[in-house]
Amino acid sequence: MKILVLNGPNLNLLGLREPALYGHTDYASLCARLQAAAEEAGVSLTIRQSNHEGELVDLIGAAYGQVDGIIFNPAAYTHTSIALLDALKAVAIPTVEVHLTDPDQREDFRHTSYIRKACCKTIKGRGVQGYLDALDWLIHYLPTS
Ligand code: DQA
Repeated sequence: MKILVLNGPNLNLLGLREPALYGHTDYASLCARLQAAAEEAGVSLTIRQSNHEGELVDLIGAAYGQVDGIIFNPAAYTHTSIALLDALKAVAIPTVEVHLTDPDQREDFRHTSYIRKACCKTIKGRGVQGYLDALDWLIHYLPTS
């Protein structure tokens, strides 16, 4: 099983970035924890982060036929990007939307998620654990081939 983890803008600044909201775990540690969990489960994991909407669109397009599932935290693009929604719909790869915080409990402008319509599951407000939960969920949800 192959899974792509995609992270949007400013998630590379985890640890430094508003730790009261996003926690003290830095981005490298998040990636290491995910890779360790994937290895234990026998899953091949690719992790990518970009601050650029178009690059995220390209990464989703390039994932077609290459991965079985996507774990996606589009960060601020969650609330603005029809292009990311369309990319996910185009490739139709089972995708779990993940957020460290719960955007629905924050400012009004974070209450809309465009990509949610193309996702089979949303996990929010569980910090780094949310990514691990998404991995578990995909492992159980995806048919084995
Ligand atoms: C976030 C929530 C978004 O509203 C915010 O713009 C982010 C991170 C989260 O993981 O909680 O950058 O996606």
